[in-house]
Amino acid sequence: MDSTEVIKSKLLSMSIDDILKSCIIPYGYIEEIPNEFVQNIKKEISNPNNLQTLTNIQTRKKSDVYNLRRFHNYIKELLLDKAKNIRQQDGYTGRLSLLDISVGKGGDIAKWNRTEIFNVYGLDIDRDSIKEANRRLSEFKARRTNTKNVELVVKDITKWEPKFNTNVKKWLESVTSQKAHKFDIVSCMFALNYYFIDEKSINNVFKFVSLQLKRNGLFIGVFLDAEKLQNFMKQNKIKNKGDIYDSDVLYIQNTWGKTTNPILYGSSYNFQIKDRGDPNLYQVGEEYLVNYKWLVQLAESHGFVDAIDELNNNMAGFSISSRFFEDIYRTTLFIEGDKYFLSHGEHLITSFYSVFCFKRT
Ligand SMILES: C[S@@+](CC[C@H](N)C(=O)[O-])C[C@H]1O[C@@H](n2cnc3c(N)ncnc32)[C@H](O)[C@@H]1O
Repeated sequence: MDSTEVIKSKLLSMSIDDILKSCIIPYGYIEEIPNEFVQNIKKEISNPNNLQTLTNIQTRKKSDVYNLRRFHNYIKELLLDKAKNIRQQDGYTGRLSLLDISVGKGGDIAKWNRTEIFNVYGLDIDRDSIKEANRRLSEFKARRTNTKNVELVVKDITKWEPKFNTNVKKWLESVTSQKAHKFDIVSCMFALNYYFIDEKSINNVFKFVSLQLKRNGLFIGVFLDAEKLQNFMKQNKIKNKGDIYDSDVLYIQNTWGKTTNPILYGSSYNFQIKDRGDPNLYQVGEEYLVNYKWLVQLAESHGFVDAIDELNNNMAGFSISSRFFEDIYRTTLFIEGDKYFLSHGEHLITSFYSVFCFKRT
């Protein structure tokens, strides 16, 4: 028997659940694995002559950014945990409500469940993403009995629509039997950079978030930090519009102009994480620089205070030394060992990102 045959006969002797656990869990939470992959394995494993399963599993393992994706999921969950903890320390004892303003394909559904956030309203500009998120949600509901109230809709968050504000409020009131009229937490994971297309768009977002949050409610998220990107560009001789950095795992292009002279809104760039194992993963198009100091000023002008220190020092999970992913990574290595060990390329990618946390006054 060659090694493929040995693996195949081993797989055929295992239950589907065990196969999924042994093959997938080390690479991420099972509910965050695309359903097609799980279904394919189930279908393929029932056919002893089909080697596609092995190919799929091996492809997953070959993914260049698998641990990066796991680590970023880990940070998102840590952030939700800390936000929940801050709400409780602020004296809130009821069931928590969350509004996610760019929910994507619903990769965070399992996190909401694990952190016991009861009411979640999620939106995204992309119709296909919301369709996929709703499909995942139904699947999740079919598996769990304790699924929370979740509503996922298509919406461009940069466009101000009073009717939409009312609809969101009505939804929250209906699922909380009129107890809650505003949310405890608003999250925005890996999406803030899209809203900085112009001044009006980002201000519309802040206006909406401010309106939907309770007093002392939290606006949390992760974004790509302009300073980190500009420093990297400078080091890699990306000086002008059109200049490119291209490696096995990452493609970056300055599309705004002189690297040293960005403007506050609409300074665009391309940032694409490459992944041979899954070309659809993390593919992004044009996004815009977000300067942290300016972000804080904007937030303050909409009635928020910067609560990053409170978030970092919060003991839920573990306290973190700074808002930057690379610092959180160092702490994670200490706490979790090599569970989320990043390759050189993955480490480079993670080093561009930062957490933010604002508290509504
Ligand atoms: C990189 S994905 C992140 C998705 C999800 N938050 C996650 O962490 O997996 C960015 C998402 O922002 C969404 N997005 C971009 N511009 C938006 C807008 N104006 N309104 C709502 N969603 C937007 C995209 O459609 C995409 O789903």
